[in-house]
Amino acid sequence: MKAEVRRVAQADEAALISLRGVDKVYGTGATAFQALKEIDLDIHGGEFIAIMGPSGSGKSTALNIIGCLDGITAGSYRFRNTQVEQLDRNQRALLRRHYLGFVFQGFNLLARTSARENVELPLLYRGQDAATRHRAATAALAQVGLAGWEHHTPAELSGGQQQRVAIARAIATQPLVLLADEPTGNLDTTRSHEIMTLLTRLNSEQGITVIMVTHEPEMAAYTRRIVRFVDGRVDSDQPNEHPVSVTPVGSDVAAAEAV
Ligand SMILES: Nc1ncnc2c1ncn2[C@@H]1O[C@H](COP(=O)(O)OP(=O)(O)O)[C@@H](O)[C@H]1O
Ligand SMILES: [Mg+2]
Repeated sequence: MKAEVRRVAQADEAALISLRGVDKVYGTGATAFQALKEIDLDIHGGEFIAIMGPSGSGKSTALNIIGCLDGITAGSYRFRNTQVEQLDRNQRALLRRHYLGFVFQGFNLLARTSARENVELPLLYRGQDAATRHRAATAALAQVGLAGWEHHTPAELSGGQQQRVAIARAIATQPLVLLADEPTGNLDTTRSHEIMTLLTRLNSEQGITVIMVTHEPEMAAYTRRIVRFVDGRVDSDQPNEHPVSVTPVGSDVAAAEAV
């Protein structure tokens, strides 16, 4: 018997993240707006990828869908071979808490709360006890270069440090995937490069898959793959053969830099 012709290609079963024919429509009727159109995208474990494109091209929409913060209108989204659109709200929340970490442009920290308590929040949602939370949060802050800053509130930290706290919060749960929406958008050039160095090391040394939205080519240059969105479609998807090189933590050069 002849195989049925399918409109969308098969999902890539080896991929960690697989979008097929994904549409996203906001609103209904006359005000309906299609933000994503037939997106096909596969991302494998361990990738470091930049999503670029003009404002309004659907970058944040795609990231929110990948992060299970928002649902799709049509098509299919598989995460670790689980069909995400078939999960209910609670199952999606569990998937988020166990596998995903988020970093946003505006840091999104609780203002009158210490760095350590901010980092502990996702661990609290996971039901971990206080001692375990303290230990994990302290370790995550050390990983982002903020040992000794545990008791400072966001107001007492620079923008670059606040974004480090947000990254510590995202990695405290040891996620498979770190999703970052314009993480350097509110930072000056020097701080932006520091954040990119940190994301590069989390990817290369800990194997965390990093998916970052940015419109800055200098920041995308750290990643190993650049996907460009235009008008809600994937316009191009190319490897970055020569990413900015970052010295590993613990090497002599990295140690010298930190002095
Ligand atoms: N919640 C929403 N309701 C209606 N339209 C939205 C919503 N979120 C985004 N949009 C629209 O979808 C398009 C893509 O938005 P977005 O994904 O935020 O773009 P980007 O991140 O590339 O700037 C934009 O035109 C935006 O106005
Ligand atoms: Mg956006």
